[in-house]
Amino acid sequence: MQAAVKLDDVRTEFAAIEFPRAGEQSQPDRNAVLAARSTIQSAVVDNEFLADCIALELKLISATEFPRGLTPFFTIPDLGIRFEFGYWPPGGTPGPHEHNTWTITAVCHNELEVRTFDRAESYRRRELVPKNNFSAEAGRVGYIYEPSIHAPINTSADWSVSLHISSSRVGEPMEDCAGLVAGLTSPRRRRMPPTTHPYARVVAKRARTQRVHVLARALAGMNVAGVPRLLDECAALGSHSTRKLAARTRGRTMALDEPGTYVLRRTHPELMLSRRIVGDTVALMTETTAGPVEDLAMNIVAADAIAYAAEEPVFDARDLPGRITDEERILIAEALEDSGLFTREA
Ligand SMILES: [Fe+2]
Repeated sequence: MQAAVKLDDVRTEFAAIEFPRAGEQSQPDRNAVLAARSTIQSAVVDNEFLADCIALELKLISATEFPRGLTPFFTIPDLGIRFEFGYWPPGGTPGPHEHNTWTITAVCHNELEVRTFDRAESYRRRELVPKNNFSAEAGRVGYIYEPSIHAPINTSADWSVSLHISSSRVGEPMEDCAGLVAGLTSPRRRRMPPTTHPYARVVAKRARTQRVHVLARALAGMNVAGVPRLLDECAALGSHSTRKLAARTRGRTMALDEPGTYVLRRTHPELMLSRRIVGDTVALMTETTAGPVEDLAMNIVAADAIAYAAEEPVFDARDLPGRITDEERILIAEALEDSGLFTREA
């Protein structure tokens, strides 16, 4: 693997800053956090740095069966300082929440809007008191030093990616209780579905492939030496859309129209699927812990193909039945794969 030169440079710069050692309870000086922010400000506009971070993130994604929230792709060993990517679908927000220690946040791809709240006044009135609202485009870097309340939100129609650098103390309990302020989200209360349910595998696969796809889109815009190799990794980890993007970016054509090369397998063998027809639309319904959900809907011409997919645990895209063309068979299979319900056989 190519050395993470730019990430190592950042690590060296952090080592020269007066940060507490990993495991120490003390807060760094504000000047230390400002110096780190300045380092990140220069790094985040450097595509070589971002490509280094993405290379490590892809390793993390490939090793994580059930991705959940922020997980560090890199930790500076002596300092315990964590580097994590955050992924924001259109409209995505964790809600207003409190930070108990320093954190630096950089927008790496697309944009975010950040709403801040007057923490002291919010505690006094026991309700959230808005303070500022600003938009942060890619390359913008912010920081938190004192305990603060904020609510980043992706108000755009596209996915965004942020980079978070924070102390190992992030997530320690606050002295103040979130229950004292109406509308404040406690991260501890966010509930995750049990990983034993077959649908959890689909949700996890979809989260992984969505993350890989937005990273591939970020990479596709970079003119950096390691990008072709990273796009190949994205194509191997991602679904149809990512393979197509990687192939297009690398100037290749995809060979999916060769017979026998597009076999799909149900992502979990016990996943319960059924077909539903409403008007001129056919939907693929999936059984979840909260009852059936509609995971995919398409034109009624795909009705027989969807019924077949709901029945067969493994099938070749070319065997999808119905009065449809071979091209439509591939399009349906691509949608089934992108939904996360089916996984392409290697
Ligand atoms: Fe936050």
